[in-house]
Amino acid sequence: SKAPITVAVTGAAGQIGYSLLFRIASGALFGADQPVNLRLIERNDEKAMKGLTGVCMELDDCAFPLLNSVHPTCDIDDGFTGVNWALLVGSVPRGPGMERKDLLSINGKIFTGQGQAIEKNAASDVRVLVVGNPCNTNCLIAMNSAKSIPTDRWFAMTRLDENRAKSQLAAKAGVHSTAVTNMTIWGNHSATQYPDFFNAKINGKPATDSISDTEWLQGPFISTVQKRGAAIIEARGLSSAASAANAACDTVYSLTRPTPASDWTSVAVCSDGSYGIEKGLMFSFPIRTDGSKWEIVQDVPVNEFSQAKIKATEDELKEERAAVTELGLI
Ligand code: NAI
Repeated sequence: SKAPITVAVTGAAGQIGYSLLFRIASGALFGADQPVNLRLIERNDEKAMKGLTGVCMELDDCAFPLLNSVHPTCDIDDGFTGVNWALLVGSVPRGPGMERKDLLSINGKIFTGQGQAIEKNAASDVRVLVVGNPCNTNCLIAMNSAKSIPTDRWFAMTRLDENRAKSQLAAKAGVHSTAVTNMTIWGNHSATQYPDFFNAKINGKPATDSISDTEWLQGPFISTVQKRGAAIIEARGLSSAASAANAACDTVYSLTRPTPASDWTSVAVCSDGSYGIEKGLMFSFPIRTDGSKWEIVQDVPVNEFSQAKIKATEDELKEERAAVTELGLI
């Protein structure tokens, strides 16, 4: 049988953790014949660790055939030891009266420490996916705190946005979501992200062939995807968790298997200057992979409308980077 793959998850006792861990343990990342070790990291806080103990009890109670071991801890050096994949989910949410700068500062410290601990303890092939918000900039901070780990191992999650965009287009066109491909999310996982309907396809043809309502595409479609997180909070009283966990599974799945012919997926990676995006920013692009090496898909047409949207989300990421630079975090 195969050697287990070791996956660390931070914020393991949180909402997303509660969906994510059970999916990982049942094979959602690497398939039905690949055993996994889970290293579950929480804050050094009695309530958080007690909650994590309960989650571990439930993992035991599933008797998952693929789950080789579970190791709960609040020590990050211990938590990241030998990990092949680090899923950084835990972060501190913006509280009442908290300024954006305070949030960046608190989370900045978390992600510097985690970056260093990953560099020191993880397996030599470690790959890191940041989910905790602001995920692009948290990822930028962690990556810059772990300079010996190649920049192509760092990812921030925009797959939930991609999946949301696909569902919206599918519903409008009256097709199943699987008919929608080539869905790019450009930029930041935030309200400035740009879901690119111009290059999306429905049943292999431009989405704009099936959806002639340009006003809807340029207005409500984009804003629905951008503001979906807030709409979920409004409806559920809690932020998206199961769908976020699902997107995290989809991201790892897509990065570890060859991308289907002529399709692509979206994930934020360290910009190499493609599409004129400033080098070094964690920016969501159309990505293809052979299952190990990935590349930014080149020559996706960007018209004037798209260019303006891409510029706006790039500007926001530059501002976030300037703020964390000023705080001395990178
Ligand atoms: P939650 O508040 O339910 O859970 C977060 C957990 O992280 C808590 O158990 C907390 O104790 C833990 N935590 C905080 N600081 C930590 C640290 N330094 N080390 C280890 N654990 C730590 O939050 P939820 O709903 O699970 O969401 C987690 C994050 O994911 C949030 O930042 C949220 O904004 C983000 N998110 C990102 C999405 C994306 O598409 N990129 C989608 C949805 C949520």
